[in-house]
Amino acid sequence: MSAPIVTIQRHIAEEQSLHPEATGSFTALLWDLILAVKMIAREVRRAGLIDILGLTGDQNVHGEQVQKLDEYAQDRIFKAMDHGGHLCCMASEERPEIIPIPKQFKHGKYVLMYDPLDGSSNIDVNISIGTIFSVHRKVTPGEDGRLEDCLQPGHRQVAAGYVIYGSSVMLVYTTGNGVSGFTLDPTVGEFLLSHRNIRTPKRGKSYSINEGYSRSWDEGTRKYVDYLKDKDPDTGRPYSLRYVGTLVADFHRTLINGGIFLYPAVPKPKLRLLYEAAPMAFIAEQAGGIATTGTGRILDVEPVELHQKVPFIVGSEEDVREYESFVNRK
Ligand code: AHG
Ligand code: MN
Ligand code: MN
Repeated sequence: MSAPIVTIQRHIAEEQSLHPEATGSFTALLWDLILAVKMIAREVRRAGLIDILGLTGDQNVHGEQVQKLDEYAQDRIFKAMDHGGHLCCMASEERPEIIPIPKQFKHGKYVLMYDPLDGSSNIDVNISIGTIFSVHRKVTPGEDGRLEDCLQPGHRQVAAGYVIYGSSVMLVYTTGNGVSGFTLDPTVGEFLLSHRNIRTPKRGKSYSINEGYSRSWDEGTRKYVDYLKDKDPDTGRPYSLRYVGTLVADFHRTLINGGIFLYPAVPKPKLRLLYEAAPMAFIAEQAGGIATTGTGRILDVEPVELHQKVPFIVGSEEDVREYESFVNRK
């Protein structure tokens, strides 16, 4: 008897049945988002064949060069999500302000924040890239979303997920009931359940950090990384170094295999709280891992501005706790 084929639509519908109060709006929101990421996956697959590689010539709010695929992904997600009636507003790495829902469309009770294309520097060299998303409930009165609806701590997220456009296209997400992974079967265009209830090992064997910035690390980070390089078979050291330079890829490997990913302040933080660190932290904790700024839980950080950056250290519980012990050593 072959195993049941569980599409992501079926999985989301089954999850919805766990929430009797659910209206189906959240389920429909995810289905709309899934359509957008399937179209992004198609463009990523053939990026080398169509004029979608390279730069647009513009810069985004972070002063970063905007890749054509960044803009395509941004546009694709916006157009898939603006009319479904589930959102009160959106926020994107590629837009300086919150993105209102066009007047002509029904507004809803959720907020979607996203990094449409993560790992832009790897697009032109055919290395894995991704999309990251985070969903919150609207908390202000009225139907139009406001900045306050976006500036919520990560522990209030309703859902978080990412897509990795790699050797296969995978969608990994949580609604607070564990973490599930779905692999796109391109022959039928469906995401099929491939990783039920992902759990991160308590300790791993690899660390992931951009060693090029080691001269700018704080002392705790430097001592911790040196510690990982010492030879001590009893504690599995030295660890291997694995660094792709795409958060989604480095995070996914850490989520599945264990270990630790670190993007500390070098000397300033780079990763954005609302649509990179917080969604990944929600997923990490739901899989039994930990996500910290070094001195506090990522999901407890109170956002003060839309594109706020935080130091982001995430991975196996024992590895991250060990890091915190180095950083907090007096
Ligand atoms: P994005 O392409 O969305 O701007 O994100 C890039 C981020 C993240 O994907 C990755 O972890 C980090 O940049 C790598 O930064 P460095 O190149 O400084 O290591
Ligand atoms: Mn990113
Ligand atoms: Mn991006």
